Amino acid sequence: MSQHSFILNGKKVTVDVEDDVRLLWVLRDILKVRGPKYGCGIDQCKACTSHINGKAFTPCSVSIKYIKPTDHITTIEGLAETAKGKDLHPVQEAWVKHSVPQCGYCQPGQIMAATSLINDVKKEHRKITDADIDTLRNVCRCNTYPRIRTAIKDAAKNM
Ligand code: FES
Ligand code: FES
Repeated sequence: MSQHSFILNGKKVTVDVEDDVRLLWVLRDILKVRGPKYGCGIDQCKACTSHINGKAFTPCSVSIKYIKPTDHITTIEGLAETAKGKDLHPVQEAWVKHSVPQCGYCQPGQIMAATSLINDVKKEHRKITDADIDTLRNVCRCNTYPRIRTAIKDAAKNM
């Protein structure tokens, strides 16, 4: 076992765990942060999508030894705090407005991936397109993709 520290949703956390344990299990099993969902464990379904330093990534595919003390990990639980002065992040608001979730299992990952995509497109000073949204690879077994698409376009107007 060895100690690993990082910033989780704005607060420093330290865990005592083997170097090769992947971050998703550190988040869910040790830190009890259950927003990032376990689907495949091999970077395919994207259910665990969270942010590292503001960019989408899949914590099921990253061992804790690669996470630095200065890295900011944000899960769905901390997303609203990145939108200053609001109870919900604009992407979460759009998800509610368009009643996106069905069973809900994939939706934290969907929202985190969508937020990162919208931020990337905004940095390029352009509007989000269907082609941009087509790059998302998050699987939804309930087939909420049309509502996800609508919500992403709506959220992008408020970010
Ligand atoms: S559980 Fe992480 S990508 Fe499937
Ligand atoms: S809402 Fe059920 S898997 Fe996406």
